Amino acid sequence: MAIPATECIPLKIRGLFRFCYRTKLQKTWNIADRREFSCSAAKSYAARVVSGTAIARQIHKEIQASVEQLVGQGNRRPHLAVILVGDDPASRVYVRNKTRAASLLGISSSALLRPAGVTQAELLDLIDQMNRDWRVSGLLVQLPLPGHINERAVCNAIAPEKDVDGFHIVNIGKLVLDQRTMVPATPAAVWEIIQRTGIETVGKNVLVVGRSKNVGMPIAMLLHSDRNHERPGGDATVTIAHRCTPREQLTHHCRLADIVIAAAGVPQLITADMVKEGAVVIDVGINRIQESGSGRIRLVGDVDFEGVRQKAGFITPVPGGVGPVTIAMVMKNTVTAARNALAH
Ligand SMILES: NC(=O)c1ccc[n+]([C@@H]2O[C@H](COP(=O)([O-])OP(=O)(O)OC[C@H]3O[C@@H](n4cnc5c(N)ncnc54)[C@H](OP(=O)(O)O)[C@@H]3O)[C@@H](O)[C@H]2O)c1
Repeated sequence: MAIPATECIPLKIRGLFRFCYRTKLQKTWNIADRREFSCSAAKSYAARVVSGTAIARQIHKEIQASVEQLVGQGNRRPHLAVILVGDDPASRVYVRNKTRAASLLGISSSALLRPAGVTQAELLDLIDQMNRDWRVSGLLVQLPLPGHINERAVCNAIAPEKDVDGFHIVNIGKLVLDQRTMVPATPAAVWEIIQRTGIETVGKNVLVVGRSKNVGMPIAMLLHSDRNHERPGGDATVTIAHRCTPREQLTHHCRLADIVIAAAGVPQLITADMVKEGAVVIDVGINRIQESGSGRIRLVGDVDFEGVRQKAGFITPVPGGVGPVTIAMVMKNTVTAARNALAH
């Protein structure tokens, strides 16, 4: 039951009862917190806002330890090479965030910038050089690419063992066959958020909204597959929605879902009336919207955060949810690539 914003709610925290106003609770919880709201007439759960930033911090510590262990054993630091074509502002930010994260974690990195007019042959040649450069542990080409370049050809040109984005056809094939592989960073981030928050997936109904080959499809693969296979899956019953799913069908499947993963790139697609009470809502979407009054650009997800948080059990915010964990997973894949190279 929704509780009016001004109502005084008894709040039970670690066995202690305190009184506090709901408005004061509108903040991002640390992932370690578990807070239960109760009132005399009925019981209601405000969503725990899962901080991707806190989860990313946890993963960073593990990566740092792993890098220092590698270096301590006399190996070179893992090296991430990032190729950026053109000057799309969002892509530039993503590349900067990745190289910054790398340096924070003791991973060396290089950003290779090419103009938007670079030919496909020139780009493939650069990738070939990076593939053969033994100093490069992990390689990625920031997507999207200009229209004259075939993205699939580019993804398939990266050596599978250096493919930290996990987009090479061999890595995708292995993922689909539940084999151990480089899992694409955003699906891997969704998986980490679920695991590290202790969310049960076995036998649960999951709705993945979006079926793109880099995001929606691999998320569905991870969650529906068998937990006893080489690459353990979530053993959930997964439904995938896409742009041809009629709105009423989307609502229907959403209401049945214990876990909703929104990855459509459509602001406000998932609203409170569509979500089952207590459901887990993971918002992958990143949309830039212009505020009507100020004209300011703001980042929002695919979920009506303020509405859905009143009803869901867990929710990830945008920004500060899947995004930081995605970057952490690129770094983790880079260290995995460096370790794999040592083993061969
Ligand atoms: N947080 C992160 O780190 C991170 C990383 C990557 C992407 N993202 C964000 O995640 C979102 C999805 O990324 P993407 O690369 O998968 O985008 P995409 O390639 O454009 O795919 C969007 C998917 O959503 C589906 N879709 C579109 N409108 C829909 C609707 N009304 N109802 C249901 N499904 C609908 C599309 O269906 P069709 O297949 O039928 O077209 C498509 O499968 C974007 O907002 C992107 O910015 C975030």
